[in-house]
Amino acid sequence: MEIGILTIFPGIFDSPLGESIIKRARQKGLVDFTIINIRDFAKDIHKTCDDAPYGGGPGMVMKIEPIYNAMEYLEKEKGRRPKYILLTPQGRILNDEMAARLARQSFICLICGRYEGIDERILHFVDEEVSIGDYVLSGGEFPALVLIDAILRHIPGVLGNSESIKEESLNENLLEYPQYTRPQVFMGMEVPAPLLSGNHEEIRKWRRKEAIRKTILKRPDLMGQFKPTEEDLILIREIMEEILE
Ligand code: ADE
Repeated sequence: MEIGILTIFPGIFDSPLGESIIKRARQKGLVDFTIINIRDFAKDIHKTCDDAPYGGGPGMVMKIEPIYNAMEYLEKEKGRRPKYILLTPQGRILNDEMAARLARQSFICLICGRYEGIDERILHFVDEEVSIGDYVLSGGEFPALVLIDAILRHIPGVLGNSESIKEESLNENLLEYPQYTRPQVFMGMEVPAPLLSGNHEEIRKWRRKEAIRKTILKRPDLMGQFKPTEEDLILIREIMEEILE
């Protein structure tokens, strides 16, 4: 997958894209980033990327020409047009399903806004607007990194085997089951007995039940999309009885 990034702060991406899973994905040739400094495409001597809003008011607005010029440059370099995604709190809120869908694209370009916003005419050139949640950040750079991480996890080969197994439960709209590692007792708190039993079936069933319990207690909103099996229905009944006890 090719990912273009348009930003006036390219340095923000250096370390996050150069570490851990994303670093490995780049080394494996599974993803390639082209980071473009929008400022390089401002034509005036001061490299101006923002200006006062028409109609007055506080703050500055990102100009459209440098962004448009950067888009043209990217398309010329790559010989094709990417799917353009604008990071903005006005976009559709990111979820794992959206990340999986975007992971099937071969070329996307993330546009990071700054200041109080971007000239509205940018929407004419953008395919999708994405928000990472109902809070306002100072720019689209961190949201772009969040989106990249969420997308790359869906590209086959990016995660190792042991990492991708974990993904299954989230796809099912269930939270992860509780995990423990040594020591067996910490400050009087013991690791649940089924995990020490060595009985694979008992462990599987306990994990399934605890994943469902966690989801009911912490994210009941996810239960609406969860499709329980016959066994799950029995586990749900047990959990509800335990909760009501
Ligand atoms: N830019 C500023 N805040 C944002 C958010 N919550 N999501 C995406 N882009 C943003």
